[in-house]
Amino acid sequence: MTKEILLPSLWDDAKAAAMDEPGKLLYRSNLLGSDLRITNFGGGNTSAKVAARDPLSGDEVQVLWVKGSGGDIGSMKLDGFATLYMDRLIQLRAQYRSLDQEDAMVEALGHCIWNLNPRAPSIDTWLHGFVPQAHVDHVHSDAVIAIAASTDQVRLTEEIFGGALGYLPWQRPGIDLGIKLGRMAEENPKLKGVVLGQHGLFTWADTAKDCYLLTLEMINKAALWLEATEKRPAFGGEKVPALPAEDRAATARRLMPLIRGRIGRDEAKAGHFTDAPAVLEFVNSHALEQLAPLGTSCPDHFLRTKIKPLVVPADADDSTLDALLAGYRTDYAAYYDRCKRPNSPAMRDPNAVIFLVPGVGMISFAKDKATARISAEFYLNAINVMRGASGVSTYQGLPEQEAFDIEYWLLEEAKLQRMPKPKAMQGRVAFITGGAGGIGSASAERLLREGCNVVLADIDKSALDEVVAGFGKRFGRDMVRGVTMDVTSEAQVIAAVEYTVAEYGGLDVVVNNAGITSAAAVEDTTLAMWNRTMDILSTGYFLVGREGYRVLKAQGNGGSMVFISSKNGVAASPGASAYCTAKAAEIHLARCMALEGAPLGIRVNVVNPDAVLRGSKIWQGEWSQQRAASNKIAVSDLEEHYRKRSLLQRSVFPEDIAEGVYFFASDLSAKSTGNFLNVDAGNPVSFTR
Ligand SMILES: NC(=O)c1ccc[n+]([C@@H]2O[C@H](COP(=O)([O-])OP(=O)(O)OC[C@H]3O[C@@H](n4cnc5c(N)ncnc54)[C@H](O)[C@@H]3O)[C@@H](O)[C@H]2O)c1
Ligand SMILES: [Zn+2]
Repeated sequence: MTKEILLPSLWDDAKAAAMDEPGKLLYRSNLLGSDLRITNFGGGNTSAKVAARDPLSGDEVQVLWVKGSGGDIGSMKLDGFATLYMDRLIQLRAQYRSLDQEDAMVEALGHCIWNLNPRAPSIDTWLHGFVPQAHVDHVHSDAVIAIAASTDQVRLTEEIFGGALGYLPWQRPGIDLGIKLGRMAEENPKLKGVVLGQHGLFTWADTAKDCYLLTLEMINKAALWLEATEKRPAFGGEKVPALPAEDRAATARRLMPLIRGRIGRDEAKAGHFTDAPAVLEFVNSHALEQLAPLGTSCPDHFLRTKIKPLVVPADADDSTLDALLAGYRTDYAAYYDRCKRPNSPAMRDPNAVIFLVPGVGMISFAKDKATARISAEFYLNAINVMRGASGVSTYQGLPEQEAFDIEYWLLEEAKLQRMPKPKAMQGRVAFITGGAGGIGSASAERLLREGCNVVLADIDKSALDEVVAGFGKRFGRDMVRGVTMDVTSEAQVIAAVEYTVAEYGGLDVVVNNAGITSAAAVEDTTLAMWNRTMDILSTGYFLVGREGYRVLKAQGNGGSMVFISSKNGVAASPGASAYCTAKAAEIHLARCMALEGAPLGIRVNVVNPDAVLRGSKIWQGEWSQQRAASNKIAVSDLEEHYRKRSLLQRSVFPEDIAEGVYFFASDLSAKSTGNFLNVDAGNPVSFTR
């Protein structure tokens, strides 16, 4: 056990020997950031003071390389560091008088930039710059924050670190805290760093390697001491037993759409669920009721998780949820009113981000899946901190006003204002059948480009895996999932929609697209061919449509369904009676569902493609030969044949169909339901009548 909690040194002298100082700083940062026990995602920063040339004068100058605003030390590259002239930073220090200058001082950092580096310096810059030692690490280790968030943190710091680390009480990071930290380092040459109250660890050393090793040593000390000292069982022991794993998953699937619908009315949110052992230990514990309302401690934690989570009973029904969520919003508004200052930004979304379900686990919702997942990771950090602190002392969150001042800091607001506008489909979730095929994957891409999360369902596993991997690379792995499924199997359709809800918390868009073709004269159409065509196209669309509809209804937030039918659904073609009839059934099913869905805000529309040869797998097989034969032309002439047949004399591609899908999936068509849109370059036989 003890061995497992100890962080090993991953420093490789041979590797480091070839690196210059900025290279070693990057190496150290990536090593530190690659272990969540050392720091949370995006948390902490590292620095080195390095001699360099002034680009204008050629003189040697001291430059502070310090992780800039944004990014994560685990994955950052060299361009993630801001670079600042040390002498100018020291000049700014001389100008600083009082706390009300802090924000202006951050603006003034712009005058200290070395070499026109565009990376913005963060507010932690001062905490690195004013420490005299060349190398400084700042990390948010759970073990150290546990000590920093205990009521007797000063005594514990002394006891555990035996004078190697000093203690600075909580203060919002900025030049003022930087000056205090620098002074402490200067006046106490024996100190190797400090514990920042409620916040984290600072360590310093003369070389990159020593700084890295020192950071590990201090975290290991804290972790070992906690392990040896913690009261057990953690959190006062179990109050509620964990449900069996399957029931936990089923409860999460039931609750997530109910919550999502209620908190996503203004802005759609993507969800995440985890029932990791450390989460269950906390949500099932006696201490949950007492600790959860205290809120998180490290500012990084609550910026992501909101000041506190909402506890939701596993059996909560609609009215319980209404009351709980409304209660949270009222509390949040009251917190805003209590703490706001005359120039505070307007109140932001008052809904909870973290939902703790005793017996079940933790649900999180945020503007996109990655943010929801990372918020859950941060709350897990907070749980670790609370377990440590309450195991050896009494846990204390950050004082409410301090939390508010961070949350509504004007600098934080300015950062938010600079962020790009949300994409049209941000936070929404689409389920697309036949997603590995031509039209399905083009539609997925169109929606992904608008920020939509997409679940692709297909019967062809290898094609599906390839498409999902490709999208994952381009749009981010959190944005896309694949599920193998046969649309003719009721059980598989139910499981695939359940999977979607489990992965993203709900559903907004269903694209019914999986398909095959069949062609034969009526007298040659076997019952097997007829049934197979009907099963996949009309029955398959029904099963997928029904399961999607059930989720949309439970969510209570409307939604959009798009059925990919065909020209053949409106215009009969010879030699394909089963296909044409099945496609017509799809259109009529869409109309029936549009009728029933309207009072719920569920829109159902149809896109009718025609002759989309390129990219389509159905045109790679027999269908092409039959179509070519029935038109008495060569297969290679088909594309040209269809182009010439169209009114606009143009070929139709999967991307063109995808535009129609996007139109109906998005709010662009908010006032359309029960419609169909032909995307076929014009064909009089399918004009609406
Ligand atoms: N391409 C065209 O010219 C054209 C014209 C009119 C209508 N359509 C319709 O567009 C839709 C998509 O066609 P496409 O051109 O992209 O074809 P495609 O063959 O490239 O894609 C269809 C996808 O559906 C999947 N699929 C087949 N049977 C399935 C099942 N039982 N369960 C789950 N998935 C299954 C296939 O594996 C494939 O990936 C179909 O409904 C088709 O009828 C296409
Ligand atoms: Zn920090």
